[in-house]
Amino acid sequence: MIKQQLARFNRLELLGAPTALEKLARLSSWVGRDVYIKRDDTTTLALGGNKVRKLEYLAADALAQGADTLITAGGLQSNHARQTAALAAHLGLGCVVLLENPLATNDPNYLGNGNRLLLSLFDAKVERVDNLDNADDQLYALAARLRASGKKPYSIPIGGSNALGALGYVRAGLELADQIKDTGLTFSAVVLASGSAGTHSGLALGLSETLPNLPVIGVTVSRSDDAQRPKVQGLAERTAELLGIDLPSSFKVELWDEYFAPGYGAPNAGTLAAIKLVASQEGLLLDPVYTGKAMAGLLDGVGRQRFDEGPIIFLHTGGAPALFAYPDVFSDQ
Ligand SMILES: Cc1ncc(COP(=O)(O)O)c(C=O)c1O
Repeated sequence: MIKQQLARFNRLELLGAPTALEKLARLSSWVGRDVYIKRDDTTTLALGGNKVRKLEYLAADALAQGADTLITAGGLQSNHARQTAALAAHLGLGCVVLLENPLATNDPNYLGNGNRLLLSLFDAKVERVDNLDNADDQLYALAARLRASGKKPYSIPIGGSNALGALGYVRAGLELADQIKDTGLTFSAVVLASGSAGTHSGLALGLSETLPNLPVIGVTVSRSDDAQRPKVQGLAERTAELLGIDLPSSFKVELWDEYFAPGYGAPNAGTLAAIKLVASQEGLLLDPVYTGKAMAGLLDGVGRQRFDEGPIIFLHTGGAPALFAYPDVFSDQ
């Protein structure tokens, strides 16, 4: 049902084959539990990451509307802004991004390295703002200004997380369900970082029909459970509505909110230890803002026996370019 409904939407085919689902053999031995990884860090476009899946639907809509400029918003080290700017360059569109400094830091690496460096390479026009407390209104005002100057802007919300963008992760959920079936294994859970929520809502919705008993656990990166839950639930409802289906009764929002302190973009000791462990055991890069926190949750969850039996899947959503914005935090690792 979901698959047929999804097929009705226009999609820019940026991704080729499904991203790999593979076992992390050395990490599994170290943890004493089989851990598999879904490699959405290897998506095409400018060092990869989860936003490519959302942008397949959003950019198709932008082109259908005749847009000549993609606009969006995020933090100075936004992976979403980087991938949007890269896609704009790839498509020959302009790109304007509103960027805030969520850490209020003057660290030159945070201000100019990592994702921020790449934004400039893609010729994105950056407008710094004091905050993004009213991001939708701020984007609306930017679009109006661009229209007044003769441009045709297409506005993409923070993280690409509206219902259309979340379709990218509904599709990823269907893809993962097929891969899980091929393994013949019964997995205990999927673990991922839950931020602007499109990845979490879409993936859980995409998996809910075929694997109704598989928990999709979102490790929050900036919000406590009570603030994140309505975001994930509301976006899933709007995405189901866009698809023209009822939210399956098996759809359930599962959140772990113990791993994001002290706040968005600020790694804690568990985050850094998880990044270091996965790098040293697997030669694989996580990031200090999203996947490091999600992996810290997974590792702690194993230690505290929070999972049911069976191997665990970690959704790697990318983000490694941000490592270069935080070189000092690893100095004593
Ligand atoms: C690397 C990475 N992982 C996870 C996420 C979270 O995804 P979402 O915003 O869809 O919740 C983001 C969002 O920016 C990200 O950049």
